[in-house]
Amino acid sequence: MDMKYIIQKKKSGRSLTSEEIDEMVQEYVKGQIPDYQMAAFLMAVCFKGMTEEETANLTLSFVNSGDKLDLSDIKGIKVDKHSSGGVGDKISLIVVPLVAALGVPVAKMSGRGLGHTGGTIDKLEAIEGFNTRLSKKDFISNVNTYKMAIAGQSSNLTPADKKIYALRDVTSTVESIPLIASSIMSKKIALGADAIVLDVKVGSGAFMKSLGEAKDLARTMVSIGKSLNKKTIALVTDMNQPLGHEVGNANEVKEAIEVLKGKGAEDETLVALTIASYMAVLGGVFQDVNTAYKALEELIKSGRAIEKFRELVKIQRGNPQVIDNPKLFPQAQNHIDIKAHKNGYVYKIQAESIGRSAMLLGAGRKTKEDIIDLSAGITMVKKVGDKVSIGDTLCILHSNMDNCMEAEEIALNAFSIGTTKPPEIQYIYDVIE
Ligand code: URA
Repeated sequence: MDMKYIIQKKKSGRSLTSEEIDEMVQEYVKGQIPDYQMAAFLMAVCFKGMTEEETANLTLSFVNSGDKLDLSDIKGIKVDKHSSGGVGDKISLIVVPLVAALGVPVAKMSGRGLGHTGGTIDKLEAIEGFNTRLSKKDFISNVNTYKMAIAGQSSNLTPADKKIYALRDVTSTVESIPLIASSIMSKKIALGADAIVLDVKVGSGAFMKSLGEAKDLARTMVSIGKSLNKKTIALVTDMNQPLGHEVGNANEVKEAIEVLKGKGAEDETLVALTIASYMAVLGGVFQDVNTAYKALEELIKSGRAIEKFRELVKIQRGNPQVIDNPKLFPQAQNHIDIKAHKNGYVYKIQAESIGRSAMLLGAGRKTKEDIIDLSAGITMVKKVGDKVSIGDTLCILHSNMDNCMEAEEIALNAFSIGTTKPPEIQYIYDVIE
């Protein structure tokens, strides 16, 4: 193909046809287009954008570049969820058993993480014996029988996105709404769900720092989903402080269990139940989110939610005793209190810094090869709006490392303490349907 012409066309702000986009993507995966030409094209997209139609076509080309999961043997409307990523985000662990308990099939393929903490798959490995390497047959059969399964995803999913994302990372072309939206949506669509609920995070610990950008991304992803015949809803939710009180792997699973037992933090519970409610509506078991929300609260109150999580642990061969005895989770040796140096109110928390501190403690990977310490992490004792006095513990670092000085300093500096109470944080800013 004439890649120079394609770059020129985008550089001058014209739209590409679906054939042009597809040919370019498939040839790039095969190594027939050099990185320098693809990088020039990506930079042109950063400046000139893409129409909704082009963005949907790019998504489809990414999907068609690799394996696709065929979930047609699963009965019912399969609903997936995706988060654009945040600190302390353990929502998937909560919503899978909740939505499954309502009878909606949840076939969850998740990844491992690079960054502050591991991904959902890493987190689940904090439960002794929990098996996320399910064969396709077992995965489908578990969803048909129990309405839920969580497994690691195939390595040949959307290889075009993988190759282009790596190039964007080193050519400063990550920040483009159509490129981000097509990258995220291609992975969801390749995973075969019929309906998708997106959790677009915004704030200091999120990819999107401003509400305007987050809404744009949410709208673009909803439009891609709809044009590819997937029912899609996006929520724009807060990430100006870690979600809930725990950041890490084992401690995030422990906190998810608390939410399912009805003892979760207010922000975490509200966001998880709202996402689960939209999943229930898209899954066709409720007409409206308010009724779905009430049914989910009832599941928690009656104990059925935590029993469904116990069932998930048992069917994937984990040790269900962790649910009643949190000491059975991996335990860190060292616990360091980070204390307030000032009286006042927690005015702001740099969520990204808390994530970075957690990573330095061993909770996350800097490179793919790093090994995660599942017991490492941070407990947020104080959150935005809390009153503090000098000497009060702001957060507790959990680690097995001898020297945590850098992590301690970063965690302390993540807290801004002011003399007045900050405005209330809104947990959910918008819902885009
Ligand atoms: N996450 C993705 O998967 N892709 C992007 O482009 C950005 C974040």
